[in-house]
Amino acid sequence: MSFVVAKDLCRTFDLSDPWIVRKLTMRPKRLLQAVDRVNFSIERGTTYALVGESGSGKSTIANMVVGLLKPSAGSITIDGQNLGDASMSRPDQQRLRRRIQMVFQSPYASLNPRWKVGDILCEPMRAFKLIEGSEAQRRRAAELLEQVGLSDSDASKYPHEFSGGQRQRISIARALASQPEVIICDEPTSALDVSVQAQVLNLLKSLQKEFGLTYLFITHDLAVVSTMANKIGVLNQGVLVEEQDTEGLFSTPREDYTKMLISSAPKIEFGS
Ligand SMILES: Nc1ncnc2c1ncn2[C@@H]1O[C@H](COP(=O)(O)OP(=O)(O)O)[C@@H](O)[C@H]1O
Ligand SMILES: [Mg+2]
Repeated sequence: MSFVVAKDLCRTFDLSDPWIVRKLTMRPKRLLQAVDRVNFSIERGTTYALVGESGSGKSTIANMVVGLLKPSAGSITIDGQNLGDASMSRPDQQRLRRRIQMVFQSPYASLNPRWKVGDILCEPMRAFKLIEGSEAQRRRAAELLEQVGLSDSDASKYPHEFSGGQRQRISIARALASQPEVIICDEPTSALDVSVQAQVLNLLKSLQKEFGLTYLFITHDLAVVSTMANKIGVLNQGVLVEEQDTEGLFSTPREDYTKMLISSAPKIEFGS
C-alpha cells in the first residue's frame, strides 16, 4: 500500500444564506462541491504534485490531508492509518498528526510575529514532547536553522527581520521540528521572487533526499513542479482530470485543460 492514500475524497461547502433568510426569500440551499471524489496515492520518499488554477480545490485537499478540515466523504490514509478514524485514541491521533506537517504559501500569516524564531522552532518540540529541556531544544533549533541555510544566531530574531525567502526557510524549519515524514507544501514559493523560488525548491529537494520525506506539493504553476514532482495530478474544479508521471505529463498531456496549463506556465531556471 502507498504511504499516503486519498480515496474518493470529497468536500462540500455550504454557501447558503442563514435558514431564516432562506425561508423568507424562498431561495434554496447553495452547496459548493469544492473537491469531488479525488483519488491519489503517494509512495514514500516521493513528491506528488497537485496542479490546477486558483479555486480548483488544491488548498481544500491540503487542509484535509493535514487534518485541518474534515472530508465530507472519502478517506485519507497515512502509512495504513486512517486520519478520520474516530476510534483512535487522542495520543495516537496526535502521534499521527505529528508525522504530517504543512508549509503554507504565506510565511507572514503562518509565523507568529510576536515570537522569536527560536521559540517558534521549539514550540513543536514541546507540544509533541520530542525533546526535553530548554538547552537541548535550543541546540536542536540551531541545528534546524542550519539545515535550512540560516544561522543559529537567527534564533533570537523576529520573523519580520527576515526576507520573504528566509521566512519561508523558517517555516520549513518549523515543519521539520516535528520530525515529520510527510510535508504538504501549499504554494510554498508563489509569494517569492523567481530567483528565490528556485533556491527554496532546491532546499526542499535536498531535505527530501536527506530525510526521506514524502511531499504533497501544491501549486498553480506547472513550471515549478516540473523538476520537483515524480507524479502530477491535474485538478479542475474539484475533479482530478488527469494523472501522469512528470515526464509523461509534459511530453504527452492527454487533457485539453492540462495542455492549457502547460502552455501558460512560465519557464524557470534552476540553480544548484
Ligand atoms: N471555508 C470555505 N468556505 C466556503 N468556500 C470555500 C472555503 N474554502 C474554499 N472554498 C471554495 O472552494 C473552492 C476551492 O478553494 P481552494 O481549495 O482554496 O482552491 P485553490 O487552493 O485551488 O485555489 C473555491 O471555490 C473556494 O471559494
Ligand atoms: Mg490555494
